[in-house]
Amino acid sequence: MTNFQSDALVFFGATGDLAYKKIFPSLQAMVKRGHLNVPVVGVAKAGWSLDQLRARAKDSLEKHGGLDPVAFDRLIALLRYVDGDYQDPSTFAALRKELRDAKAPAHYLAIPPVLFETVVEHLSASNCGRGARVIVEKPFGHDLTSAQELNKVLLGAFNEADIFRIDHYLGKRAVNNVLAFRFANTFVESFWNRNFIESVEITMAEDFGVQGRGGFYDQTGTIRDVVQNHLFQVLSNLAMEPPVRSDSDSLRDEKVKVLRAIPAIEEQNLVRGQFRGYREENGVAKNSQTETFAAVKLEINSWRWKSVPFFIRAGKCLPTTSTEIVAKFRKPPTLIPDSQLVENHLRLRLSPEITIAMGMMNLAPDAEGLVLQTGEMVASHSPRADEMDAYERVLGAAMAGDSTLFAREDYVEEAWRIVEPVLKKNTPVYQYAPGTWGPNEVERVTPISGWSNPDDKKAFKVASEAA
Ligand code: BG6
Repeated sequence: MTNFQSDALVFFGATGDLAYKKIFPSLQAMVKRGHLNVPVVGVAKAGWSLDQLRARAKDSLEKHGGLDPVAFDRLIALLRYVDGDYQDPSTFAALRKELRDAKAPAHYLAIPPVLFETVVEHLSASNCGRGARVIVEKPFGHDLTSAQELNKVLLGAFNEADIFRIDHYLGKRAVNNVLAFRFANTFVESFWNRNFIESVEITMAEDFGVQGRGGFYDQTGTIRDVVQNHLFQVLSNLAMEPPVRSDSDSLRDEKVKVLRAIPAIEEQNLVRGQFRGYREENGVAKNSQTETFAAVKLEINSWRWKSVPFFIRAGKCLPTTSTEIVAKFRKPPTLIPDSQLVENHLRLRLSPEITIAMGMMNLAPDAEGLVLQTGEMVASHSPRADEMDAYERVLGAAMAGDSTLFAREDYVEEAWRIVEPVLKKNTPVYQYAPGTWGPNEVERVTPISGWSNPDDKKAFKVASEAA
C-alpha cells in the first residue's frame, strides 16, 4: 500500500451507464461522509458542456438513491468536465489542464475494455499518468491472453501498487462478512471442510434482463460478466485458508491458492442458457449465442475441499433478485430412515438482506411419532439506507492506495485459466422462459438434492416457525 491520498479523481465514461447508475451516487455519498474533497473530472465524448454533465448527475441521483441538496452542491462544485475523443491527444492535453496542480490523480476507466489501451497510452504520453493511480473496471480482459496484454499495457505506465482492478463485489459488506463468519467464529472451522460438507451452491439471480446494455452484454455473457469475477470472489472467500498475516497481499495470496486448486471447467460441467426475447434487445445479434444464464460445477483440489462439488449458477430474468450460498452437510450415520432425512444446511444470503441460517432437523410439532422437519436458526438484517455502497467503498480504497479490495493480476489470470477453455468451445446455449430458473438442461449440473432457490420461502418458512 502506498499511502498517499489521490488529489483528484478522473472518471472516463462520465456520460455512460455505469456513471449514471453507480458512480454519481457513490461520489455524492463520499462527499456527504467527508471522504471526497478533491476535484472530480468527468471525461467523455458526447459533445457535452459541464452544465450538461451537472444536469446528468442530478438526474442520476434523483433516480438512483436520492439527491442530498447539501452534498450535491458540494459535489457540483468539485465537478469538472473534459469532452473529447479518446484517440485524440488534445483530449488528454485538455485533461492535464483541467487537473491544474494535481500531482497524484486517480484515473478511473469506466469505459468499454476495448478503449483501455488507448486511454492508458495517452495518459502516459500526456503526463496525466505521472504520480497517478489507475482504476480499471471489470471484466479485466476478454480471455487469458487479452488480460495479460492489458496488464502489460498498464504496467508500462503504472506500478502494480498503483493499479486497481475493480470487482465491486469485493466492496460489498455481505461478501466480506463471509470471511468474518468463517474467521471470527470458533465453531465454523469444525465443520467447514470435506468431512462434513457434501456440496456448496452459489446462486446469483436477477429478475431483470440486460437493461439497455445489450451491446455490452452480447460481447460478454454471464460467465465473463459475473461468474469469472464476482462469483469467483465469493467462492474464494468461502474456500480459502485463513491468511497468515493481515496485509492485503497475504489475504490475496490465499485467494489465488483457491483458484490454483481448481481445474479448468469441463464441457459436461457447464450449462448455458439464454432467456427468450434476449435476441430482440437493442445491440444483441439476431442469432446471438451469448448466455444470459450459466450453471457450472467446479472442483477445488485442496486438502480442505477435495471431492466436494461447488456449484455456481447465475442468470438474468430469473424469478427473483438475490445472491445466496447454500452449503449442504453430509447426512448423519443414524438409524432414522434415509427417506426421512433432509441434509442440514448453512445458508448465507448476501443480498438483498444479509442472512446466516443453519438448517437442522427436529420433530414436527403437530405430529406424533418420528415425523421430522427442517428448522432454520436465522440471523438476518437488511442493509441500512445510509450504508456504504460497494462502489463508494472501492473508490475510496483506491484513492487511499489500499489494494485489499482489488483483484491482483495473478488472480485474474487464474480465473481466466478456469473458464477460458470451455468458453472457447461454444457449447450449446438453451432457451428458457423469463421468470424461470433457467433451461431444463440445467439438470445436468445440479447438486444431488437439487438446487436451493432463494425464493423457496416455503421450506424455510415452515422451518423457521418450527425453530
Ligand atoms: C455487474 C454486472 O458487474 O454486476 C451486471 O455487469 C450485474 O450485469 C451487476 O447486474 C450486479 O451487481 P449488484 O451489485 O447489483 O449485485
